Amino acid sequence: MEAKDCNSKHVFFNQTSIPDSFDECCIEIDKFINQHSTDGRKIVLITSGGTTVPLESRTVRFIDNFSSGTRGSASAEYFLSHDYAVIFLHRHKSLEPFSRHINRQHFIDILQLTPENEIMEFLFSVKDEHKEKLSVVLKQFQSIEKENLLLKLEFTSLGDYLHILKAACEKLNTVGDKAMLYLAAAVSDFYIPKADMSEHKIQSSNGPLELKLQLVPKMLEPLVKDWVPSAFIISFKLETDKDILISKSRQALDKYKHQLVIANELEKRKREVTIVSTDTVTPIILTEEEVRLGIEIESIIVKEILKLHDNFISTKH
Ligand code: PMT
Repeated sequence: MEAKDCNSKHVFFNQTSIPDSFDECCIEIDKFINQHSTDGRKIVLITSGGTTVPLESRTVRFIDNFSSGTRGSASAEYFLSHDYAVIFLHRHKSLEPFSRHINRQHFIDILQLTPENEIMEFLFSVKDEHKEKLSVVLKQFQSIEKENLLLKLEFTSLGDYLHILKAACEKLNTVGDKAMLYLAAAVSDFYIPKADMSEHKIQSSNGPLELKLQLVPKMLEPLVKDWVPSAFIISFKLETDKDILISKSRQALDKYKHQLVIANELEKRKREVTIVSTDTVTPIILTEEEVRLGIEIESIIVKEILKLHDNFISTKH
């Protein structure tokens, strides 16, 4: 049974294409991890956003997993503010740390063009009402950039995501217990193998479309056992039925033997999560007052996680 399961993981990797930028990605990961492990800094790999599953090789259509990237991008900022180096593996065009504070649709609204000066130059500036917020964000971003504390990597499809995740984990394993995984991405459970995929756009003239998707093997298993066994590993559990949320989180811990599951219900995820370990269940619920003050739940999640990561490190020494 175990041999068959292990084989299905190899089959999955063989049946999905390696992303175009894979080699460059690996070089960047190597450089980043070498720099920060030499400094003795803790490193967290955060995954964020949803994976897609293409229906055609020359992809026109795909199935998507829901995630805006708020959880991952906000958490990245709080880890950075606590001196972690962050590898941010995120879905192309989903929310990113710092830039998430600027609404893309209304980006143009925050700028103004001053009249041409004597040498016929146009000058841009930020409108007064946006200056305070933007300067706080920019200051934080510039100090993070100066120390090269944030490495951003992108994925779109499930295949891209898993190939990059595996490579990053294997490198992170050299860091030992100072490495953390914070798996907030929404990852597909189904896919179409390369060999079964239509090359060209599927034609509607052929009638209704019937799809048969194969199961994606749960990658948490090799991740915990083989890719990065020495790290502090946190997975997320998303459910729409609150009655099964905690029991499913416990089952995941029991099965994969990692350190924590952060459980969240789709509709309440911005105000309420539960941190589940093998022997504790810790709810985090924002009060009305905290919501009114604009406190983000990720700031509280990260504070709790930092304590648990420190405990984890101290038990290993
Ligand atoms: O981005 P936001 O809009 O803020 O939303 C945040 C979030 C709700 C997406 C996030 O908080 C969250 O819950 N992410 C995990 C969603 C998810 O994929 O849950 P799941 O129950 O399907 O999977 C559980 C775990 O198994 C995940 O950590 C996943 O990495 C892992 N998995 C999933 C599929 C797969 N084939 N292999 C895996 O290892």
